[in-house]
Amino acid sequence: MLDAMLLLLVSGVAQLTQMLDWNARNAARLWATSAGPTRSNFAAIVRGGEMFIPSMNGLFQPFMLPPNKFFQPKPAFLSWMVTQFSKHLIYDVGSGVGHVSRLLTEYGLSVVAIDNNGRQEREFAVESVDGTSCGYRKGSVVMLCRPCHGDFASDVIEQAIRCKAGAIVYVGLKENSNIDLAEYRKYFKMKMRNVGADNERVYVMGTEYLKRNM
Ligand SMILES: C[S@@+](CC[C@H](N)C(=O)[O-])C[C@H]1O[C@@H](n2cnc3c(N)ncnc32)[C@H](O)[C@@H]1O
Repeated sequence: MLDAMLLLLVSGVAQLTQMLDWNARNAARLWATSAGPTRSNFAAIVRGGEMFIPSMNGLFQPFMLPPNKFFQPKPAFLSWMVTQFSKHLIYDVGSGVGHVSRLLTEYGLSVVAIDNNGRQEREFAVESVDGTSCGYRKGSVVMLCRPCHGDFASDVIEQAIRCKAGAIVYVGLKENSNIDLAEYRKYFKMKMRNVGADNERVYVMGTEYLKRNM
């Protein structure tokens, strides 16, 4: 109850903050496309980087995205990941419900799933971490599967380079690759086609490429 009152007190300031908060705006956009906006949706507030929305009883509850799965990998993708990265730690950045992490783990790979939004259901232990500021382990593989559009992917790539990641893997639709990878697109090489249910492609920025071109 005290928590709810505090939330209400800060809501005036927080709603202004929300307008400037990229994560909240991004989450709200996803929410609007998945659940459909209602008038009460716009009373959401932000505290400590987490978004809260009003519930039926008038109190605020943590915002949870529905358990949608975007990239649905085919076995060929999972096998390819094993051939390329069996010795590396893989970060599944913006993992959603964690289904890709779960499958890669079943194929014997070491995976850390991170996402900065809650989900109504999960298939894997997903850490609540912002991928744009995560301390990626040196030499690790930073993987983005069907990321949100906007600056998310390029901000994660920038952070991965800063942390000296060994490789960056992007999985997405052909028509989205230029938008998502933005100024980094020229450093990525397309490695595979038709790796998922929506015919996603895999693009990789490897260490040797990073050293030669950046
Ligand atoms: C389009 S969904 C794709 C989810 C999953 N990779 C899939 O293929 O189903 C993008 C995900 O990125 C997450 N995301 C957005 N911004 C993020 C950030 N800064 N750090 C971590 N995750 C983020 C969202 O919460 C969402 O779960």
